Amino acid sequence: MTQRLTIRKPDDWHLHVRDNEMMRAALPWTARHFGRAIMMPNLVPPVRTTADAAAYRERLLAARPPGSDFQPLMPLYLTDHTDPDDVERGFKEGVVAGVKLYPANATTNSAAGVTDYELIRPVLARMEKLGIRFLMHAEEVDPAVDVFDREAVFIERRLIPWTRDYPGLKFIVEHLSSKVGVDYVRSAAPQVGASITPYHLELNRTDWLGWGNKPYNYVMPVIKSEPDRLALRGAATSGEACFFLGTDSAPHSVAKKLAVVGAAGIFNAPVAIETYAKVFEEEGALDRLEAFASLNGPAHYGLPPNEATITLEKSSWTVPEEISVEGPEERALVYRGGETMAWRVVAS
Ligand code: NCD
Ligand code: ZN
Repeated sequence: MTQRLTIRKPDDWHLHVRDNEMMRAALPWTARHFGRAIMMPNLVPPVRTTADAAAYRERLLAARPPGSDFQPLMPLYLTDHTDPDDVERGFKEGVVAGVKLYPANATTNSAAGVTDYELIRPVLARMEKLGIRFLMHAEEVDPAVDVFDREAVFIERRLIPWTRDYPGLKFIVEHLSSKVGVDYVRSAAPQVGASITPYHLELNRTDWLGWGNKPYNYVMPVIKSEPDRLALRGAATSGEACFFLGTDSAPHSVAKKLAVVGAAGIFNAPVAIETYAKVFEEEGALDRLEAFASLNGPAHYGLPPNEATITLEKSSWTVPEEISVEGPEERALVYRGGETMAWRVVAS
């Protein structure tokens, strides 16, 4: 008997599609199965203001496939100089869905991020007052901190004090990557929630570095140890409301991924919900996929879940190796490209 699973339409609470040609190539892969997505603002230049977000939102809407009712949700890129009044205006106008912290130089296109945490206090206070969500690339960039410890140190140094200073503010640890992080988020829920990627559920650092350096598994936060991966699988498949889906699908051209200093990011949108289904099946938790993919995220953001549904079926297909992109970026390789996927979306 064919195995089938129908769940409410999922949302992606952490997605990069970039702009221009890459956006037009990448967005349809998410729009075909997901109801909404948080559209990461680390463009060049970044989406810093309400005006930037409104303009990017229009470009995203125009890049949807015909007939799609996919909804982009727009966070602002926090800088040392973000104006609390602009954040408030954008939120009240329904343009701004949150504010995203990139510590300066923590990841791709984060050079314009925050360098001095004292300067963002007025913005955080305003967000707390208005109920605006605070999305964080939760990594400490102090060069003295080991790259594998960046998440744990950020939680200790930044996040724990902020949760006390702003008790009414709701936080999201984006792309949670460690056991320390899992334990912390559990202990700090419901004030703190976390999105979890497909690749942090599937890969450990031996997969990345143990059999040759695989630049296509290079991502920020870096993929960690097997105990970290197991803790993340336990968290995602637990059904606990503080853990929800965020693919961090992040396309880069082949040239950028393979450069001497390679870009961080994995393009997984073409296999995202299918990969989560595989993980949940392996953990004997398919009955909890809907909570993780379609219910917990909206609840943490204070939004209703989608009414529509998607249906997955156990029937194999071969993942495309790459997508082609108009213009100089040319192509982006796909996570699991060329491999066989067991689950397929048959209705969405
Ligand atoms: C993301 C990107 O490419 O924009 N890269 C990544 O390694 N995850 C940025 C981010 O989310 O850190
Ligand atoms: Zn990301």
